[in-house]
Amino acid sequence: MAKAFSGIQPTGQIQLGNYIGALRNWRPDPGSFYCVVDLHSLSQPWDPKELQENTRSTAALLLALGLGQGSHVFLQSHVQEHAELAWILNCIGRMGELGRMTQFKSKGRGHQDASVGLFTYPLLMASDILLYRVEEVPVGEDQKQHVELTRDIAERFNSRFGPVFTVPEPRIAEVGGRVMSLRNPLEKMSKSDPDPNSKILLSDSDEVIAKKIMTAVTDSGREVAYDPKEKPGVSNLLEIASTLSGESVEALAARYRDGGYGAFKRGVAEVVVEALRPLREKVEALLADPEEIDRQLEIGRAAAEREARPMLAEVREAVGLL
Ligand code: AMP
Ligand code: TRP
Repeated sequence: MAKAFSGIQPTGQIQLGNYIGALRNWRPDPGSFYCVVDLHSLSQPWDPKELQENTRSTAALLLALGLGQGSHVFLQSHVQEHAELAWILNCIGRMGELGRMTQFKSKGRGHQDASVGLFTYPLLMASDILLYRVEEVPVGEDQKQHVELTRDIAERFNSRFGPVFTVPEPRIAEVGGRVMSLRNPLEKMSKSDPDPNSKILLSDSDEVIAKKIMTAVTDSGREVAYDPKEKPGVSNLLEIASTLSGESVEALAARYRDGGYGAFKRGVAEVVVEALRPLREKVEALLADPEEIDRQLEIGRAAAEREARPMLAEVREAVGLL
């Protein structure tokens, strides 16, 4: 049972790719920490009121998944050690390696008005992870590069100042590590996509989910087959249904092969609707009681601080801060 750390930004609403690529693989093991990374959400323009709402609903989702029992759920900004370690790691990370991060290249590079935080963001993420001495970081494919940077930073730090940090491994699901947009299966599904039909939100009603899947872009031809290169749209739906039902993509493809896209999409819609309904209902019940959410986050904060405090003290001493 490896100790894990992972985080999710409360920027916008949580979509199916977050669930399949990340949340579903977060296990409620003792010693594991799951964090709503609200400070990361400040790296791009934000609305304070929306941030508050999204932070609560994201926390409610993690709690509804049972991650507050066994493991711990907390808000990044509640544990000040994250920001302090981030400064120290800002002085360990290098301009060149941060400039190579694909997420920065696609969102920030060349934009004179992008925030500095968007550039240094991976070092705040490294701080999140390294404060908790964890072995594993369960994330979607798009975060692999950031976890690898975290490893490089930890190793550089350890070789210069002594063995302070545990060097973590990324853990990425074999199927579902990269869920694609329903409107363009060559792009990943993303919270920040302005087209509501490109993504399924975990808060979507049964009807809305079904409608979005029925209108998902599929490929030419009419045979249902798993072939991510030639049939990216169909393959994406097959991966979604497979991860949520536990049935292999091959078995699903065989079942729907000659029945046409309509019947196939109805089948996928049913799987997604059934998988998300109980979770949505739990989240709604929790959101009706914000004080209970805050109470549970307070328990998480205390547990996180118990790990983060001594870790940061060790770092401070190692680097020569009095
Ligand atoms: P973010 O939405 O950037 O806060 O991502 C939170 C987690 O969800 C990270 O582990 C991401 O890698 C994962 N994730 C986000 N979008 C997708 C996607 N389309 N497919 C798979 N995983 C994803
Ligand atoms: N950068 C991650 C994302 O955008 C979120 C994140 C922040 C994270 N800190 C983390 C993920 C620590 C894993 C571990 O998805």
